[in-house]
Amino acid sequence: MGLLLASGLNALAADKPDSEDLIAQGKYLATAADCGACHTSPDRGAPMAGGYAIHSPLGDIFASNITPSKVSGIGDYSEQDFARAVRDGINKQGQHLYPAMPYTSYSRITDADIHALYAYFMHGVQPVDTPAPQTHLPFPFNIRASMALWNRLFAGNTPFTPTPGVSDDINRGDYLVNALEHCDTCHTPRNALMGQDNGKALSGGSLGSWYAPNITPDRNSGIGDWSDADLTQYLMTGHVSGKAQAAGPMAEAIEHSLQYLSDADIRAMVAYLRQIPAVDTGATRPRDGYGQPSASELSLRGQTDNIDAGWQVFSGSCANCHQADGQGNRFYPSLFHNSATGADRPDNLIATILYGVHRNVNGEEIAMPAFGPQAHFSERLSDQQIADVSNYVLKNYGNPQLSVSADRVRVIREGGDKPLLAKITSPASLLIAAIILLLIVVLLVVLITKKRRQHGAK
Ligand code: HEC
Ligand code: HEC
Ligand code: HEC
Repeated sequence: MGLLLASGLNALAADKPDSEDLIAQGKYLATAADCGACHTSPDRGAPMAGGYAIHSPLGDIFASNITPSKVSGIGDYSEQDFARAVRDGINKQGQHLYPAMPYTSYSRITDADIHALYAYFMHGVQPVDTPAPQTHLPFPFNIRASMALWNRLFAGNTPFTPTPGVSDDINRGDYLVNALEHCDTCHTPRNALMGQDNGKALSGGSLGSWYAPNITPDRNSGIGDWSDADLTQYLMTGHVSGKAQAAGPMAEAIEHSLQYLSDADIRAMVAYLRQIPAVDTGATRPRDGYGQPSASELSLRGQTDNIDAGWQVFSGSCANCHQADGQGNRFYPSLFHNSATGADRPDNLIATILYGVHRNVNGEEIAMPAFGPQAHFSERLSDQQIADVSNYVLKNYGNPQLSVSADRVRVIREGGDKPLLAKITSPASLLIAAIILLLIVVLLVVLITKKRRQHGAK
């Protein structure tokens, strides 16, 4: 099993502490775990020096400087301190980290891999003495100790151990998907207290503006109709013609992490995803199974009465790339047989129009312009215009059962539906917050007494 996790290599490297090999292995693991995506500021920030703001429904959370600087980074962390921060979400000062740092998944990282990661962060990363900005969340979330209660309920995985009786590939895939690559933090739904609902693992989760779809093997709701080759190509490049393209947070995962993984690791993830329990989330047709070319754009040209407002936007802002019939071409994808237009919710279609597509893969830049607030080269579309063009696209090329209101576009523009936890920050709802906190405390007491009893029984 040692070699299976590539961690067995560490046993050999252990005689030669922090050898080049161990540091290189730690670097690969840091890429697979995508540490740099959050801990490096996108405006040409120094690697791992922090500053990237993670927009949570509760407010911005800044990723820390995790360079080996003794002033502003983690230069004085021992390997044990490092393991505690990465796996348990507790920093050297004993403060609880917010789960924007995906320690709930990283808790499954093996000791051997923590050892290699530590060697890389201490000896493979340049120290940077500039401190990262501070995070200020509203009450009661500024009380970091409240995370201790949350952890009791939702965190606390133990390091990964292979499941007996399944192939090495599937075990390696399990480790990559649920520990290092933390696919689950985005693709698994969350409950009202923002804990992962692992009974429905990987069956789809909202990330605010974007929606990470169901990737279980269910034929209609998930990706059961994708071939192994489709899935492999998507994870390596973010593009499968006539199926799906990766934008938003998925594009980031591919750009910073997945494109650098070895073929064997991609194969392992595909093998694992093929055999997880299928979860039916109610779709009646696969997301990539909707629509066909439509001549509607052409037939509406020249019309002077009752001009379709969505057609107008489509004609002016979309058809030049995606073509009048929505078929696209060698460079631009079709809008039918496209998982963003055939999904059972319009979130990713709206978010794509607002924020565009940006993906740098194999040195090639794939870009669709944004039509929202960050639009540079294209016109800024209003909520109503985006609703109109979405409805036009859905009706002609996508899932015609959906319709989009300007109000829905506004919600997506403002970062998506707020979970219950975030809604309770208004002063009027503090009472509810207090009751929920009280409930958590009660639960906690029950849990602790249970633990005590178990210990007592020993
Ligand atoms: C999805 C974003 C994200 C990823 C991926 C991520 N982190 Fe973090 N990390 C954060 C955020 C945000 C914080 C600060 C949390 C807070 O302030 O409570 C943090 C805090 C930390 C800290 C605590 C630093 C301190 O002294 O406060 C360490 C150590 C750390 N991360 C290491 C890592 C390592 C190693 C990886 C990769 C294995 C990683 N992180 C991946 C977002 C991320
Ligand atoms: C930071 C959040 C995030 C992480 C981490 C993440 N995903 Fe995604 N994923 C998304 C979002 C959002 C989409 C939708 C992208 C779009 O439609 O442009 C997506 C789309 C997908 C799709 C395409 C589904 C479809 O029907 O279009 C697959 C397959 C997928 N992800 C697999 C994975 C796997 C496997 C991992 C881990 C290796 C992973 N994702 C990690 C957010 C994430
Ligand atoms: C300048 C060319 C261009 C224009 C204009 C353009 N797109 Fe795109 N579109 C692209 C490219 C490039 C992609 C991504 C291809 C890839 O990922 O491989 C894309 C992807 C998409 C996707 C799939 C996104 C996903 O997450 O799966 C949708 C839906 C889409 N465009 C709709 C639109 C709509 C609606 C408009 C008009 C408001 C529009 N596009 C205008 C070039 C364009």
